[in-house]
Amino acid sequence: MSDLSQIKGINARQIKLLQENGISTAEALAMSNGESVSSIDGLGEKTAKKLIWNARNALGMTDFVTASDIDENVEFMTTGSSELNRILGGGFQTGKLTEVYGPFKSGKTNLAHTLSVTVQLPKKRGGLESAVVYIDTENTFSKEKIKRIAKRFGLNPSEVLSKIYHARIYSSDHQAQMIMKAETMCKTRNVRLIVVDSLMSLMRAEYVGIGVLAKRQSVLNNMLHALSRIAETYNCAVLLTNQVTVKMMGMFSSEDAIGGNILAHAAHFRVMFKTKGFSSNNSLKRRAIIVDAPDLPPEECEFFITSAGIADTDKVEMPSVDAPVLDFEVETLYEESSKQEDSSRVSLTNVKGIGKGTANNLSSLGIKSVDDLLTADPEDIASQISGLSPKKVLEMQESAKTLV
Ligand SMILES: Nc1ncnc2c1ncn2[C@@H]1O[C@H](COP(=O)(O)OP(=O)(O)OP(=O)(O)O)[C@@H](O)[C@H]1O
Ligand SMILES: [Mg+2]
Repeated sequence: MSDLSQIKGINARQIKLLQENGISTAEALAMSNGESVSSIDGLGEKTAKKLIWNARNALGMTDFVTASDIDENVEFMTTGSSELNRILGGGFQTGKLTEVYGPFKSGKTNLAHTLSVTVQLPKKRGGLESAVVYIDTENTFSKEKIKRIAKRFGLNPSEVLSKIYHARIYSSDHQAQMIMKAETMCKTRNVRLIVVDSLMSLMRAEYVGIGVLAKRQSVLNNMLHALSRIAETYNCAVLLTNQVTVKMMGMFSSEDAIGGNILAHAAHFRVMFKTKGFSSNNSLKRRAIIVDAPDLPPEECEFFITSAGIADTDKVEMPSVDAPVLDFEVETLYEESSKQEDSSRVSLTNVKGIGKGTANNLSSLGIKSVDDLLTADPEDIASQISGLSPKKVLEMQESAKTLV
């Protein structure tokens, strides 16, 4: 990242003006659009064009490069659900805008909360060791939820909260202002995830009617452009949540994201969350569908909303600090130990601390029995399953030993 002061011919006043408008690095200026920089009060069109040109020149952006020299430094963070990670091509990606849309209670805010924690995890546990900017237009941010998710992933809740930079937003121009400000946070506070929950709600309320549609789309376009630039400059992930409208087509209805073509084109990944189609109305099972992605097949998967965020099953395992010593029937224990089962056949769910979800995750790593668990390397397992620390795996191995 290069400082604005390194651009040829720039002065202190111009640096200040650019910074006030959310452009605080040479890269950010080089990626800006001439017209939007020209419109900064006090800068002037000629100066804006000259500075952008000089920045692009200095960064080698005025030459073509061969495809073999293109940098692809995409990183992933876990969503909390291994299935959702899978259909996203490995997790939530950096450097791109991801739009998640769906009806109310479909899990958008839950995903926003989960990512705000997982982005802080160490890299080998599916995080980016980074901070978050959380732009909250609906007043649905919950500290309590964050604390529970932090505990689930074995992180210190107060430390996690101290790395979430939250802004409650009251109007669309406030939203635009804070999006610009997010750039400084990426530069100075190691922010690698920007959440906008939700992107359209204020604009939808403020710009009502077809007469103001063009104005609304132009405001939206500026926000998306700024976010795209920030995502690319800082290799930052961006989650945009969005609502849907229901379109009636004769007898049938379909749900469509709001924001029109501008948003549809700006979002690199579009994911739809669904609540419908499950047997019980109060089920916390949800469906995610990849609607549009440059290099992902149109897959779908199921995930769950839990009290500690998005997960693969409806019960997440919280690392137990003051775990009860006995949480199974004494009779069962007696039966099992008297049978002296072969450890290669004892199922993992008999081990204290291993629920169905963890057993499935372990099984996908080829660890299918107590015997497999006892011979596996805790570091290795923990690095491949999000939410599991080496310490927790050691505890499981200790419990497993009592079964054989
Ligand atoms: N502690 C919890 N345990 C289990 N489920 C919960 C918990 N808290 C919330 N939920 C469930 O999460 C769902 C709400 O999810 P979320 O807030 O992520 O939806 P959303 O898609 O953001 O909706 P909206 O469009 O209204 O913002 C509700 O169905 C609720 O029952
Ligand atoms: Mg929400």
